[in-house]
Amino acid sequence: MNSLILGDNLEMLKRVDSESVDLIYLDPPFFSNRNYEVIWGDAGEIRSFQDRWLGGIPHYIDWLKERVREMHRILKPTGSIFLHCDWHAQAQIKYLILDSVFGEPNFRNMIVWQRTNTHNDAKKKLANVCDVLFYYTKSDKYAYKPQYTAYDESYLSKFYKHYDNKGRYRISDLSSPNPRPNLTYEYKGYKPPEKGWAVSRERMEQMDKEDMLVFPKKMEGRIQRKKYLDEDKGVLVGDLWADIQNVQPFSSEKIGYPTQKPEKLLERIIEMASNEGDIVLDPFVGGGTTVAVADRLKRRWLGIDQSVQAIKVTEMRLMQQRDLFSQPFEIQLLKYDFDTLRYQDAFEFESFIITQFGGIPNVRQRGDLGIDGKSKEGVPIQVKRSDGIGRNVVDNFQSAIMRYDKRLYEKHQLEARPIGYLIAFSFGKGAYEEVARLKNVDHVNIQLVKVSEIVPMAHRPKLQVTQTVFQSDKKGLSNVQLVATAQSDCEIQFYSWDLDYKSNIGFRPSILLDKKGEQTLSLKAGQHTIAVKVVNDDGLEALEIVRLAV
Ligand SMILES: C[S@@+](CC[C@H](N)C(=O)[O-])C[C@H]1O[C@@H](n2cnc3c(N)ncnc32)[C@H](O)[C@@H]1O
Repeated sequence: MNSLILGDNLEMLKRVDSESVDLIYLDPPFFSNRNYEVIWGDAGEIRSFQDRWLGGIPHYIDWLKERVREMHRILKPTGSIFLHCDWHAQAQIKYLILDSVFGEPNFRNMIVWQRTNTHNDAKKKLANVCDVLFYYTKSDKYAYKPQYTAYDESYLSKFYKHYDNKGRYRISDLSSPNPRPNLTYEYKGYKPPEKGWAVSRERMEQMDKEDMLVFPKKMEGRIQRKKYLDEDKGVLVGDLWADIQNVQPFSSEKIGYPTQKPEKLLERIIEMASNEGDIVLDPFVGGGTTVAVADRLKRRWLGIDQSVQAIKVTEMRLMQQRDLFSQPFEIQLLKYDFDTLRYQDAFEFESFIITQFGGIPNVRQRGDLGIDGKSKEGVPIQVKRSDGIGRNVVDNFQSAIMRYDKRLYEKHQLEARPIGYLIAFSFGKGAYEEVARLKNVDHVNIQLVKVSEIVPMAHRPKLQVTQTVFQSDKKGLSNVQLVATAQSDCEIQFYSWDLDYKSNIGFRPSILLDKKGEQTLSLKAGQHTIAVKVVNDDGLEALEIVRLAV
């Protein structure tokens, strides 16, 4: 399942199976000794992530190395990794981390990406306009597809200077590079090249019929062929990437996340080093560029970040580009939304909470004799998706356990070990009394476990939207001011707006990151449905729909 996971990536990487990922792209903090903020209007700035290292470069290298080691374990034997960095630490990263973890023989390239054009603010040194991407593989067997880029205009006007109704073309040679006696024939009176033609007579006739041949004015001349630009892959890409621009300030791709990388960069990496269906991991997912591109290129993906903003902005970005063919994905936050858990499908909730409890949920929903799953030691588990669970539920569970596995019941009773776990949102006094009675009188140990002991829970924010419609302007457009205000147990992270909300499609953010929750819109006369989402520090969200007639 495609997943976005909130948390420190070292902890999360440890939970990923070994040899399960095909391609890793990581864009960690560069040891730039800066903090990266998202600048919000004049209200001030919000911290996205830090890149300061008290212990200097040794601290940074240690920190990154233990993560790269986990990535090495997670990569399939045929896997590839791209580590994005810059001049700050690239030398140490190559020598102290990548050569030592992946081994020098698995070094493929040091790609230099020209991130920006020269700017004249460098004092008595050259401007830093490049980043470095180290490309390693886990072994000498790996997916690799050569990449091509478009010719620049000067090359095109020099070579592809001909046009016909099929397009732009260049005139290119039709002679065989190697001696081909079987392809040495006269065609329409034109002599063959010394080593013969590059095509058979049948093919030559076919090309002639399709007007793909260029006949010389004189008979002693050489027949050549038309090579169309659209059948030409372009220039083979090397390790200098100067043809991919960084995300431009006003480009529609810009989402406002600091250090966001251009999608073209990830397109090239994912196309070059993976195939459709492969699994792509980005453990520093940030604004979500890798997983947005992987999703579009029909790769499966896993994105991790420690910042709630990063995970939620990435979620909004994926929703923005969703279409009917997009793959489903899940989000794993650190805290779970109380209401979502409570009103989730009962069986889904049972499976989720038993898994989070470290147990094995039943695969079947019906006929489970009141046992919804079991712990790793085989101890029965029952889940009640309600509050104030009473004495009778405890008693019924005890009989269910007896029915389910009498031998285990008696063995654990003898060894004073738990005979069952009863999970619920909360328990009534009767339940605690009954459990105590069973323990003291019958030496039967039933454990009562609250959902909040298994998963940290929080309440989603509450959201209101006020609207003010101003006089319509000369063009008949009405100016509408929408102000969203939210209440939450913790900080508000940001708002997102869908300015043309359709309930059958769901939330498609047109404005991803709005810190203030205020929008002034010029709307045509008519009905408008606008939706706004608010995200709080726990990553929990609320949605409000505004219907406007102007
Ligand atoms: C340079 S940004 C990545 C930008 C991303 N490539 C993009 O195109 O938007 C680095 C990201 O790493 C995250 N990060 C830093 N330390 C982390 C850690 N220990 N675990 C998980 N994420 C971390 C930061 O929150 C930040 O979002």
